[in-house]
Amino acid sequence: MILTFRRADAGVHYGHDGSAVGTAQTYEGGTVQAVTIERFGDPSGMVTTDLPVPEPGPGQVVVATEAIGVGGVDAVIRRGTLSGYGFAAGLIPGGEVAGAVAGVGPDVDPGWLGRRVWASTGTGGAYVELAVARVADVVELPDGLSAVDAVTLGSAAPVAHFALEHARFGAGQSVLVRGAAGSIGIAAVELAARGGASAIAVTTSSAGRGARLRELGATHVLDRLGVGEPDAPAAFDVVVDVVGGPDLPAFLDRLAPNGRLVLVGAVAGMPPADFGTRLIRSFQQSRSFATFSLDTVPTAARDTARADLFAAAARGELHAVVHDVVPLSAAAEAHRRMDDGSVFGRIVLVP
Ligand SMILES: NC(=O)c1ccc[n+]([C@@H]2O[C@H](COP(=O)([O-])OP(=O)(O)OC[C@H]3O[C@@H](n4cnc5c(N)ncnc54)[C@H](OP(=O)(O)O)[C@@H]3O)[C@@H](O)[C@H]2O)c1
Repeated sequence: MILTFRRADAGVHYGHDGSAVGTAQTYEGGTVQAVTIERFGDPSGMVTTDLPVPEPGPGQVVVATEAIGVGGVDAVIRRGTLSGYGFAAGLIPGGEVAGAVAGVGPDVDPGWLGRRVWASTGTGGAYVELAVARVADVVELPDGLSAVDAVTLGSAAPVAHFALEHARFGAGQSVLVRGAAGSIGIAAVELAARGGASAIAVTTSSAGRGARLRELGATHVLDRLGVGEPDAPAAFDVVVDVVGGPDLPAFLDRLAPNGRLVLVGAVAGMPPADFGTRLIRSFQQSRSFATFSLDTVPTAARDTARADLFAAAARGELHAVVHDVVPLSAAAEAHRRMDDGSVFGRIVLVP
């Protein structure tokens, strides 16, 4: 019943009643530019291609993308390490976009058309000019927040927010953010500072990154092994860990009595299989280990938190750290930079 995009010659999108809803870009020949992963492994398996203009199904919207976030998980999926989760060649990577709603499914309120939004596309589907998302995964952007800033914060800031909540973080507690140079870690540092942390230590690989993290609220800068400043707290009430990997058990030892480590990512891979032994050996410290995924937060709570975080960013209370903005067709190069570890914050693609 709807349809948008069919009149590529007219440069006008149409709502469900056939009325014109905007003078957005035309899509020549009924195709849109997209990036797909044709071969898992290094970024050379990513190709820029033309795909048919998508049509929104029930419960869906189509977003004309102005900005597309390049997430750490996109690189993990591209490397093929998650092939067991059903990712197959030909997939469009990426999980978040921002832009104007350019089409709505048959059962979706046409009032969405033309509104500027952030949208989650799930574990793929974002590296494209017209991206399909569930309307339940769409949040309207406040005035004053750019599309680029929205895709820098839209996924990462809620992960950081709910990870701190999952860790029962409260004012006056000390926090260590492990892997703080990525968009989740940066948001965790700022949110812990806003929440009144007594100390915020970060792990990072360079003094330059440490200096930038201090500007965002870090009080102590440590190396990847968690050493570097003699006056840093020896133990922490909360550890937010993006890294995992072989060094995870050493960070369990950095928990204060009743301390909580929440693992939100595993950019360094899986921890040793017996990592729980370390916790049990320190039984008398009452320490806790937990994983946290945004997937377990009910959609309404997630959307509310995201809208609050976007509003805070629009007021200048939360900062989107954008490493670079590059064309969609340079997605493979963006992934190379992700792989060589040179990204601080987030790379954003623009069609
Ligand atoms: N829990 C959720 O709901 C959720 C949602 C989305 C994504 N994720 C996960 O979050 C992760 C990506 O987050 P992100 O984009 O913020 O991170 P990221 O940018 O990929 O990495 C964060 C930082 O970790 C450090 N690092 C990288 N490799 C390391 C290693 N081998 N050992 C120690 N430190 C290392 C790097 O900083 P330095 O070089 O400065 O040390 C890097 O900048 C992925 O694992 C993804 O699956 C989780």
